Amino acid sequence: MTKTIIALFGLVLASCAWAADTAATTADRHQKMGVQCVACHKDGNTALPVRKAQCQACHGSYESLAKRTEKVNPNPHYNHFGDRDCSTCHKGHQKSVTTCDTCHKFDLKTP
Ligand code: HEC
Ligand code: HEC
Ligand code: HEC
Ligand code: HEC
Repeated sequence: MTKTIIALFGLVLASCAWAADTAATTADRHQKMGVQCVACHKDGNTALPVRKAQCQACHGSYESLAKRTEKVNPNPHYNHFGDRDCSTCHKGHQKSVTTCDTCHKFDLKTP
């Protein structure tokens, strides 16, 4: 009986850790993978805006990203909105947004 309770408690803890992880920001998740501040912040200067070139150094072109999300409709990486800075949607330290929603109502969820 006690063992079952301990096991269940462990499960609850595990699911909390998972929830915290999905709630973390883009920067938090990258830091967990060992990505340093300077990889996103050119010359380590956090006062400068984070341009797409910083992200593309690791993630490649919009074309290759569009291929990764080709099954998503509409494709967030290939559309009339153009090749914006990634951080217009993928926020560094806040909850991400889907800028399309200022005009549309799509079922897109930006990680
Ligand atoms: C030093 C390399 C590096 C840089 C710079 C980088 N990333 Fe990543 N990113 C990764 C790796 C590695 C993964 C995990 C594998 C994958 O999904 O490609 C990842 C995953 C992601 C994911 C999917 C998983 C998640 O946690 O959301 C998104 C979205 C993402 N990156 C966005 C960005 C954006 C936006 C920037 C620029 C602000 C950026 N990345 C800069 C290496 C990098
Ligand atoms: C218009 C908003 C928007 C912009 C701009 C944008 N993304 Fe995304 N991104 C999304 C959405 C929405 C998803 C989730 C797609 C899905 O449902 O799988 C996504 C998913 C991703 C993923 C995960 C792909 C996978 O295999 O699951 C990566 C990596 C990523 N984006 C990187 C980038 C990078 C790098 C840039 C800039 C070059 C960028 N994104 C620009 C909205 C955007
Ligand atoms: C995955 C890329 C990424 C990593 C890693 C990252 N940042 Fe950022 N950071 C951003 C983006 C994008 C912005 C622009 C604002 C936003 O989208 O939240 C930003 C903005 C900032 C700002 C301006 C204030 C704000 O919140 O807007 C500061 C300060 C900052 N980052 C500090 C750091 C520090 C310190 C680290 C390392 C511990 C770090 N960042 C790691 C992407 C990143
Ligand atoms: C500033 C407003 C605005 C933004 C932001 C915007 N769109 Fe649009 N979009 C329009 C207008 C206007 C049309 C043409 C009228 C129509 O067909 O609804 C359109 C048409 C479309 C269409 C074809 C018609 C349809 O509804 O199927 C798609 C697909 C689309 N947009 C996707 C996107 C995606 C994906 C994003 C975000 C990356 C985005 N749009 C951002 C205004 C916008």
